Amino acid sequence: MFGDNLLVTGGCGFIGSNFIRYIFSREDFRGRIINVDALTYAGNQENLIGVDKSYPGRYFFERADICDPSAIQDIFERYDIDTVCHFAAESHVDRSIKRPVSFIQTNIIGTFNLLEAARMRFTSGRKFYLFHHISTDEVYGSLGPQGYFTENTPYRPNSPYAASKASSDHLVRAYHETYGLPTTISNCSNNYGPYQFPEKLIPLVILNSLEGKPVPVYGDGKNVRDWLYVTDHCEAIAEIIEHGRRGETYNIGGHAEMENISIVEMICDLVDELAPSETSRRRLITFVPDRPGHDRRYAIDFSKINTELGWSPKESFTSGLRKTVSWYLENKSWSERIINGEYQSWIQENYEQR
Ligand code: NAD
Ligand code: TYD
Repeated sequence: MFGDNLLVTGGCGFIGSNFIRYIFSREDFRGRIINVDALTYAGNQENLIGVDKSYPGRYFFERADICDPSAIQDIFERYDIDTVCHFAAESHVDRSIKRPVSFIQTNIIGTFNLLEAARMRFTSGRKFYLFHHISTDEVYGSLGPQGYFTENTPYRPNSPYAASKASSDHLVRAYHETYGLPTTISNCSNNYGPYQFPEKLIPLVILNSLEGKPVPVYGDGKNVRDWLYVTDHCEAIAEIIEHGRRGETYNIGGHAEMENISIVEMICDLVDELAPSETSRRRLITFVPDRPGHDRRYAIDFSKINTELGWSPKESFTSGLRKTVSWYLENKSWSERIINGEYQSWIQENYEQR
């Protein structure tokens, strides 16, 4: 059961758009989705082309900023929102290092505005099913070579992005403890798959290697991330919305720890196989100065969601990466259209100073 009127914030971004498609594909979902997105540089309505026609009368788009409380309250009223799935965020660590202010605004103040709108409904006795907050494993900081993040790992965020997400997690938790608002939180590892904006490692490497541009690897390339295919993440979120215990946090991970350099080499080889060129794309790999405060290793222990809700990832990293590279090759026009002026100036600013 998902409620009747599901507010998805940030539905034009990478995970949010995959989530909307996924939920509509489920036969047990009969409700409406109201997608609220400010369409920042990372938001793209093209990610949801055809959804309104495939599900007539059940998909609504509202361009609004979650930092605007009256716009958010108005949307709650007009659509009789009874469930929230909150993705909207500034999501790129490198951008948070260069310009943290929008991370504080959107990730903290924006989350607060949504919680307030939900609290008003809930405390006035109107139907309110759940506020689900999407968060990240980065709130836990960095691991050494051993060990895993559990739901009980203390928060130790190291980047402005991670600190702003940690702050929003605390607010969500406090609204449950103080007001009894039905909430759940999920802390997920690195996602990859179709529609990911090409500032993030995997799509950036796919597109640069295709275009014969340098493939930047930060530091020694031995930082480890735990990768999860985006559809597996969407399934985990749906499980939590339906069956997760209210007030609880669930860690979600891919059981797929990889060093960055290995991923970059795998992508170069896949691009060579699927779009052959005369010389190997590995020649494009370029080590660049490290990201400040770069977390060494993330790895998730997802035994809680596995034991309580029966969820585990379905996609292996090898099959998921092949699917992802193929998607970017088959959808070149998608990336061509989003690689706009703003994106180019970000790439210049971020990589020229390294
Ligand atoms: P994304 O950057 O691709 O998309 C973010 C979306 O939010 C965009 O559509 C953008 O327009 C919208 N948005 C930004 N600011 C807004 C505002 N003020 N008001 C309304 N909309 C706004 O991000 P993503 O990778 O899809 O991540 C979604 C969520 O998942 C985030 O909360 C992120 O912290 C979390 N997360 C991401 C990953 C990952 O690997 N991508 C991993 C764990 C958790
Ligand atoms: P990223 O996709 O930015 O995700 P996050 O920082 O949230 O984990 O980066 C994934 C890893 O790849 C991270 O260790 C930083 C590294 N990285 C590079 O080596 N080169 C790049 O150009 C980018 C964008 C990231």
